Amino acid sequence: MISQAARDLAQTIQERAGSAPVEFGMILGSGLGHLSEKVDGTAIPYDDLTGFPHAGVSGHTPKLVLGTLEGRRVAVLGGRAHYYEQGNAAAMRFPLEVLAALGAKTLLATNAAGSMQPDMPTGSVMLLTDHINFSGLNPLIGEPTDDRFVPMTDAYDPTLRATLAQAAKDTGTDLHEGVYAWYSGPSFETPAEIRAIKMLGADAVGMSTVPEVILARFLGLRVAAISAITNMAAGMSDEQIGHAHTKEMAPLGANKLETILRAALPAL
Ligand code: HPA
Repeated sequence: MISQAARDLAQTIQERAGSAPVEFGMILGSGLGHLSEKVDGTAIPYDDLTGFPHAGVSGHTPKLVLGTLEGRRVAVLGGRAHYYEQGNAAAMRFPLEVLAALGAKTLLATNAAGSMQPDMPTGSVMLLTDHINFSGLNPLIGEPTDDRFVPMTDAYDPTLRATLAQAAKDTGTDLHEGVYAWYSGPSFETPAEIRAIKMLGADAVGMSTVPEVILARFLGLRVAAISAITNMAAGMSDEQIGHAHTKEMAPLGANKLETILRAALPAL
């Protein structure tokens, strides 16, 4: 399942950043890239990593940082490629294969998202309990092996969720829980779409993460994901919606996210 190209690149990365196996892979969402600065280790720009996506969305930090955070060996992807950039739902497959080849057993994904819950305002953080693939796309279309039939029950690992929830409690950080819906983007949702998505059972909406979670489960990684709420979803408030606003508001949640992750990492 891990391609030879990914294994080869992992070896090249280890030559630059040390060969101790990575425990946790992390993906940082829009406006959340500063977390990679907190890792004590080696930063490698995506441009140096043959096969990595361009990841050209502003607010992302397209570099891989391999090192230590709270005593754990982590590999942080400071930027992600989204479906809406090139129409490729599997845009993150290769970087995730590389994380797995580096030894990662767990993926911690983060994103910026709009909230559909009035009691979960801008600046909140939400632990994903599940997702709705509202796009209908799938990164495993074209995968020829039977491994493509990935079970998605408990895709968001219950043990990881419990540890993250406990870390939030221990640090007095308010952590919401809910269902994330993947909307393809890049345009934002209409208010009618938000009413529909809400009715289907989602609590937050965004343009990423779901394809990565499917791919990570395909690769056998355990997964946890946290959203930083950057706005109320379309039609839910007078708050403006846009990418500039997303980038401006993400740091509010990023601080909480960092607190929770730091407290959870030693226990994960
Ligand atoms: N919709 C989709 N993606 C988002 C949003 C939103 O409201 N906010 C941040 N990313």
